[in-house]
Amino acid sequence: LTPLQEKMAAKLSGARFRWINEQLYTCSSEKAMELLKEDPEMYDRYHEGFRKQVEHWPQNPVDIFIEKLQDMFKARQLPHSGGKTIIADMGCGDATIASSLDRPPYSKKFVIHSFDLQKTNKYVTVSDVSKTPLADEEAHVVIFCLSLMGTNFLDFITEAWRILKQRGFLWIAEIKSRFTDTDGAQFVEALKAIGFKHIDTDDSNTHFIIFQFTKPIPRDERRGAPKLKFTDPEAYVNLQKKRETAPEGKWLLKPCLYKKR
Ligand SMILES: C[S@@+](CC[C@H](N)C(=O)[O-])C[C@H]1O[C@@H](n2cnc3c(N)ncnc32)[C@H](O)[C@@H]1O
Repeated sequence: LTPLQEKMAAKLSGARFRWINEQLYTCSSEKAMELLKEDPEMYDRYHEGFRKQVEHWPQNPVDIFIEKLQDMFKARQLPHSGGKTIIADMGCGDATIASSLDRPPYSKKFVIHSFDLQKTNKYVTVSDVSKTPLADEEAHVVIFCLSLMGTNFLDFITEAWRILKQRGFLWIAEIKSRFTDTDGAQFVEALKAIGFKHIDTDDSNTHFIIFQFTKPIPRDERRGAPKLKFTDPEAYVNLQKKRETAPEGKWLLKPCLYKKR
C-alpha cells in the first residue's frame, strides 16, 4: 500500500471500531450476540481496536486482577473448595486471565471459566454472561473487566449473584467516564440492591475504577429461617421498577465511546 492508502485504511479501521464499539454499548446482550452471529469478523475488528486503545493507558486493569489473584493465593486469602478456587471471567475477550495463570502453581489450584460472545482461543467458552452454563453458587470469584457492555448489564450482575458462592468475591473494573457520578456511588447502590455487599472502590487509576463486592450470607438464614435472597427487598423492587422505565445502559452507566484519533 502507498502511504496514503495506509493512512486511509487506518482511518477506516478506526471508524469501524468506533461503530462496532457503539453498537455493543447501546444494544442488549441478546442483540449483540445476534449482530456477531451475522458478522463474526466484527468481533476481531472490535478487539483489534480495543487493544490499540488500551496500549495508551498507563495500566491495563486485567493485569491488576491477575496480580490480585496471585497475591491472594500466596497469602492464602482466596476462598476454595477441596483446594480449588473456581473463577469466572465474564466477558473475557482473549481470556488473558486464564492464559496467564495456566502455569504452576496456579494451574493446579484455579479452575478458570472464561466467557465471551465469541471463541478466540481454547480458553474461551461462548456464552452471553447474562446466562452462563455455571451452576448456582459454583464460583468463588467472579470478574468483569470492562465488560458491562450491554444495556441490560444488571442482568450480568444478577447472573454473577446466582453463580457466586456465599462469601465469594465479585470484582469489577469499569471505565471512569462511564459513571454518571464521579465515584460510582449510584452503581454501588444498584449492586447492593441486587444483594451484594460493597467492600471497596478504588478510583486511583486514571482510566478506570475497580470495585470489590462480596456475596453475603443473609442474616435470617443463619437463624435457620428460609433462604433470603435480598438484604433489602424494597431497594430491589425499586431498582426493577426503574429498569422497566429504561434499561440501565441509559441511566446507570454511560456507553464508552472513543474519540477519533
Ligand atoms: C472491553 S472488552 C474486555 C475484554 C477483557 N475482559 C479484557 O479486559 O481484556 C469487553 C468484552 O466483553 C464482552 N462482552 C460484552 N457483553 C457480553 C455478553 N453479554 N456476554 C459475553 N461477553 C460479553 C465483549 O465481547 C468483549 O470481549
